[in-house]
Amino acid sequence: MTTTTLPTPANLSITPRDRRFGRDTATPRLWHGGRVEATAIYNALSSTFPIGEAYFVESVRAFREGTPPKLAEEIKAFTTQEAIHSREHDAFNKRAELAGYDLSKLEERVRERLAITRDRPPIVNVAATMALEHFTAILAHELLKDPRHLEGAEPEAANLWRWHSVEEIEHKGVAYDTWLYATRDWPRWKRWKVKAKVMLLVTRNFVVDRTAGSLELMRQDGVTGLKAWSLLMTYLWVRPGVFRKIAGAWFKFFLPGFHPWNEDDRDLIASAEKALAEG
Ligand SMILES: [Fe+2]
Ligand SMILES: [Fe+2]
Repeated sequence: MTTTTLPTPANLSITPRDRRFGRDTATPRLWHGGRVEATAIYNALSSTFPIGEAYFVESVRAFREGTPPKLAEEIKAFTTQEAIHSREHDAFNKRAELAGYDLSKLEERVRERLAITRDRPPIVNVAATMALEHFTAILAHELLKDPRHLEGAEPEAANLWRWHSVEEIEHKGVAYDTWLYATRDWPRWKRWKVKAKVMLLVTRNFVVDRTAGSLELMRQDGVTGLKAWSLLMTYLWVRPGVFRKIAGAWFKFFLPGFHPWNEDDRDLIASAEKALAEG
């Protein structure tokens, strides 16, 4: 049997913060600084969360039984955090619908993607979750690190994204550790091959689907064709360029010895929590 290292910090505590956002005021349609493309990408991401996070929870929980007590506890806290995220993004999505957007096409796409894994062995679901959780963790890191990403956003909406980012960083090792534990008897090459293959597939789908979803929402705002494409590409890849900025962290996933906690970014959690507490 191969030995498994679980380098999640021993003193990490995963704390669900049961908060509610934007319940008292309507969210403006173009809540992200009045910008069509910025609003579109965040709305596109948000539309995937309630369905996606339920899938993450289901996938990881299927392996909870028999895991070491620390990991079992972390899976429990992860489940609670994701459930609350879904509740808040569901409320956020309803406000986007009230503002006039139709998210049904985007949600349908997520359901279609996830349906593909239904007939596969449960470990495939954990692998997909682990890859997507790496995505959310590096996006969260970038959102908290560089204030330009949420600059100009309506304050309650910005806080929702900050709060979600805090918890995504906090639980970033859970799906990965579950994967490590579930595949502890696999040969190294097989682990790497499956992990790399799943990540490449998930990345392609993520980039293609979120781009298409954003363009669909921009179309609902009357922005189409080359103009929509160039606004969105500039926003995602150039300025503030969130996709470009996470590329390095994305690539680290493929390196031998990778673990989400190889980079301890809890300082970002601390500073964001301070900002959230202040309002
Ligand atoms: Fe989440
Ligand atoms: Fe997560």
